[in-house]
Amino acid sequence: MMWYENDQTIRMMVVDDDPDYREKMRATFEGHHRIRVIALAQGGRDAVGLARDNAPDAVIIDLGLADMSGLDVAEQIAKVSPGTVVFIATDTPSMDLYRRATALGVRQVFTKSMTGHDIAGMVEQEVDAVREDLRRQAEKMPLVTPGTGPAGLRGNGAGYVPRQLQTFKKTVIAVTSGIKGGVGKTTTSVSMACAAATQADVGVRVALADLNESGNVTIQLNMGPPENHVAKSILNWHYMSDNPSVEELHEFMIKHNPTGVWVVPAVPTPDRIVELNKDLIVKVINILRQNFDLVICDLPPSITFDASWATIELADYVLLVVNPDDQEISGIKQFCNVVTSLGCSGKCYRVINKYNEPESLSIADMNRSQPYPMLGKFPYDPGVRRGRKLGYPYILEQPNSEYAFHVREVLNKMFPVFGESSFQPSGQKKSIFSSLFGIFKRNTAV
Ligand SMILES: Nc1ncnc2c1ncn2[C@@H]1O[C@H](COP(=O)(O)OP(=O)(O)OP(=O)(O)O)[C@@H](O)[C@H]1O
Ligand SMILES: [Mg+2]
Repeated sequence: MMWYENDQTIRMMVVDDDPDYREKMRATFEGHHRIRVIALAQGGRDAVGLARDNAPDAVIIDLGLADMSGLDVAEQIAKVSPGTVVFIATDTPSMDLYRRATALGVRQVFTKSMTGHDIAGMVEQEVDAVREDLRRQAEKMPLVTPGTGPAGLRGNGAGYVPRQLQTFKKTVIAVTSGIKGGVGKTTTSVSMACAAATQADVGVRVALADLNESGNVTIQLNMGPPENHVAKSILNWHYMSDNPSVEELHEFMIKHNPTGVWVVPAVPTPDRIVELNKDLIVKVINILRQNFDLVICDLPPSITFDASWATIELADYVLLVVNPDDQEISGIKQFCNVVTSLGCSGKCYRVINKYNEPESLSIADMNRSQPYPMLGKFPYDPGVRRGRKLGYPYILEQPNSEYAFHVREVLNKMFPVFGESSFQPSGQKKSIFSSLFGIFKRNTAV
């Protein structure tokens, strides 16, 4: 594992029922070279919600809040935003308080009379220490075996519809999971890519990069397994120029004719995943970002790959796909550790796949025990599996299914290209603005 530069910014939240102290903290860190106050909360309950939605790097909690004890708030924040480094501020520190606080994972208890300068130094030091620690742990994590996925059969492709280049805010989405395989990352990546590329109203140029060691993207798209695409595998991008022409892109990528999605096939054989290093990922993503409106990267179920780390750092959004299964919790925690060590928690979102499977956890339970804002939930639908066997994505076969509506709705929160009618399975109207509001709120929480 190579060394990564993490993002040095520290996104901090302050929780205090005293408006003067909140104002003091806001003013203290205004213009600070690393610490940015992204949220201020006056009550514990608000604070827990804000922590889940913002995944701050650090939070300062007043011990004696009006609605809850600061220690209870710390305990709850540790659940909904496990990467956040927690500090307790009090007028009356004691050894007993210190012991109880550190048992809950609080990093420091400090007196409210401490100067802003000293608080900043303490926050920087503790956040850096936690990141460093998590990074060391992450480097020692075992590689995880990928989930299953039988090699798919081939289906028929319909005619190719050429698309025009239009201007969009270029967006790179990394689709990942806690270390659990088989949760639906590839299905989600393929579905979102196909949905965007076939959006009738606008011409969106979409690229889909398969960063798995045993790639399923081309299989799900009816283009054969990666070993059929040795000449176009991602490893060939070593030879691509930094500013390729369209002809050169054609040489290195495969176009999925039914949708117009451009695919970067995975490494041809799993053992060659070691060649997929950070430099190559940086090159691939930079080139894709220059040439496409939407870039979706399907990551392997192993957060320890160089490729995963580099992609998470470069992406605009990291979409964590989870299933409603409590066995995922420890894997998600490991994922959070890596993301925290990279300073990337603020761009992580979650989607629940197969939320309605029998015996599954409820959405409320998942929201209580899992980090990052939930962008949506996809139903279990046997058609998804069928579409995969046919090699023709279900979202194209059944664009009016509940599954397809929800995929478009989730994608729209990151890459808003769909009109309102694209995601109303049961006639409930939901405006695009209210969908976007969650993200807007997250970016402007102060
Ligand atoms: N919403 C869904 N409804 C029904 N089946 C689904 C759904 N999502 C995924 N599947 C099926 O679950 C299986 C695993 O999905 P997929 O290959 O996308 O997972 P993955 O997370 O990419 O796996 P890996 O870790 O191996 O990369 C596939 O057979 C897929 O068709
Ligand atoms: Mg996969």
